[in-house]
Amino acid sequence: QRAEQPVIRDSSSGMWMVFDYDGVQRVLSDWKAFSSQRGRPRGEDAASALSSSIISTDPPRHRQLRALVEQAFTPRQVRALAPRIVELVDELLVQVERAGRMDFVLDFAYPLPVIVIAEILGIPSADRDAFKRWSDAVVTGNPSGSREMAAYFGTLIEQRRHAPGEDLISGLIAAQVEGEHLNPQELLGFCILLLVAGNETTTNLLVNTVRCWQDAPDALERVRADRTLLPSTIEESLRYRSPVQSMYRVAAQDVELGGQTIPALSPVLAWIGSANRDEAQFPDAGLFDPARAPNRHLAFGHGVHFCLGAPLARLEASIALDAVLERLPNLRVAPDTVLEPIPSQIVSGVKRLPI
Ligand code: HEM
Repeated sequence: QRAEQPVIRDSSSGMWMVFDYDGVQRVLSDWKAFSSQRGRPRGEDAASALSSSIISTDPPRHRQLRALVEQAFTPRQVRALAPRIVELVDELLVQVERAGRMDFVLDFAYPLPVIVIAEILGIPSADRDAFKRWSDAVVTGNPSGSREMAAYFGTLIEQRRHAPGEDLISGLIAAQVEGEHLNPQELLGFCILLLVAGNETTTNLLVNTVRCWQDAPDALERVRADRTLLPSTIEESLRYRSPVQSMYRVAAQDVELGGQTIPALSPVLAWIGSANRDEAQFPDAGLFDPARAPNRHLAFGHGVHFCLGAPLARLEASIALDAVLERLPNLRVAPDTVLEPIPSQIVSGVKRLPI
């Protein structure tokens, strides 16, 4: 089906759907034809702030904004977080080692990225429980939670403006390109983007990897016996059960793609999850191969919007999963578990995973 009809128009939603590897790669990276701009900010809520963040901006503005945030979010700064991530993973696993069981989502994969991002942003630990609520509110479009989150960050940004610290928010306030700083709306948008883009995705990378191991126990045995296979296992998990299944664009002009003409202004959904199973790019695409090479998956996107947090997500996953392999020698999903998928077209994961 993917090979025969790589591009279709879904008549119920009016959305153009792109399924093949080449098409998805083009939609994600050809920003002249497929725009990420979603209209102007309208209100005081988090969703409006997101629309003035890098993920919803096209070049040339995108390049300037990205240069500003990259200054405060460099691979070197990310690597420096490793010892703290090791500590956090350790604390979370001590709890489960005592009990002999845990919900891999709620007790481990969810708290880890939230705490890491909260610490990077310099958010007081007392406020962390509110994070999931707010992040869910932005994802589901709940306006009151979204406004609450925007107000919280607004106050925090003002505090850091007057009393800067070593945190990312202070770094973002100070960052400049050609004498220009981020404006308050853009600062807010970036903070919220980090929370929304970085948390559920990383949670699902961890959870989906355990599910890959459950489906392919031999792959788990191989990586247990040879820990050098962990980096390629993580890349294969990103390909095989991509945490972000689809990304949205708008056709900026009439575009020819996969034998179809997508008219200007049409909404377009690039199916990353499908592209990552395209046989034309990945031999035996339906097989979870922990040593797959090359593995040019599109799980972090492609081109100018390539995931800014990919080094952090990879670092967290390698530390967390290495500790899981080391310390949970009898890791297995509890028998009779009924998996409940997260109801979303964009993210792929399950709500609970008792192990
Ligand atoms: C962009 C996936 C983790 C921050 C993206 C994009 C994808 C993606 C597919 C491209 C969006 C587009 O083309 O429109 C993922 C996955 C993750 C992950 C699968 C975890 C496994 C993170 C983390 C952070 C982060 C941990 C930050 C802490 C961002 C940002 C962008 C982005 C800021 C926008 C970049 C831009 O527009 O220039 N991510 N992400 N992501 N991601 Fe991630």
